[in-house]
Amino acid sequence: MTTTNPDQELKARHRAMWASGDYPSMVETFLLPLGPVLVEACGVGPDMRVLDVAAGTGNASIPAAERGASVVASDLTPELLDAGRARAEAMGLELEWVEADAEHLPFPDEDFDVVMSSIGAMFAPHHQEVADELVRVCRPGGTIGLASWTPEGMIGGLFRTMGPFAPPPPPGAQPPPLWGSEDHLRGLLGDRVELTTLERRVLEVTAFRQPLDYGKHFKERYGPTITTAANARRNGREAELDAALADFCHEWNLGTDDEARFEQEYLLAVGTRN
Ligand SMILES: C[S@@+](CC[C@H](N)C(=O)[O-])C[C@H]1O[C@@H](n2cnc3c(N)ncnc32)[C@H](O)[C@@H]1O
Repeated sequence: MTTTNPDQELKARHRAMWASGDYPSMVETFLLPLGPVLVEACGVGPDMRVLDVAAGTGNASIPAAERGASVVASDLTPELLDAGRARAEAMGLELEWVEADAEHLPFPDEDFDVVMSSIGAMFAPHHQEVADELVRVCRPGGTIGLASWTPEGMIGGLFRTMGPFAPPPPPGAQPPPLWGSEDHLRGLLGDRVELTTLERRVLEVTAFRQPLDYGKHFKERYGPTITTAANARRNGREAELDAALADFCHEWNLGTDDEARFEQEYLLAVGTRN
């Protein structure tokens, strides 16, 4: 007999959400530059043992492996790990791909030289549990590095736009973009990590011709937007969501009507584990 508890049910829903749509194509379309930025900021080098948490298709894991590190790419969603494995194999790179919940990492204490996450760990619902796990599996003197969308930036704005249409968050869950707040992050890590880099940067997005193409891309491919749209549809509010997404795309467009340009702000945080 199999038993499930509420946490397993919640994680199963999250796994299905991230497997929906086509997240791998979003990485290829505009997210690829983030991984190498994080890997560089973490100082990843040959022979280091590196853990990428919520690695998805290996956006940070693969550039870390290219630098000669021994990399474990972990994620809740096996479909994304499979896509990452295929990408790495095509590049002739060998990594370990491990299904794992960031709130309960299946690794021993102090196992890694570098523990990093590119816009990944921020999506697990219980922030303190995740932070405790990142610290636990990193060796003293090792490096913890995170890239997280900020609350004030464009993806923070997207989550605010989707919020009224989304299913109610589970009890105890905190909003993902909080990880991009300096104060929130300091509170999560406390004095266990000496932060050496804490800077806001932007990912420039020029892959979409018209501003509304951005919203369409998310509605077709991004798990959280797909889940929100399904809930809006159930509640007869899909047209309202579409209008809110259209306003959002126009509001954040820094380019023209025929050559859209967006800036997605993220917090780059790197520190040494005490
Ligand atoms: C926005 S994607 C980021 C993926 C990748 N790091 C990147 O830079 O493209 C968020 C990732 O978080 C993963 N995720 C969500 N909740 C998780 C959890 N509780 N534990 C581990 N991974 C989780 C999803 O499966 C997804 O791969």
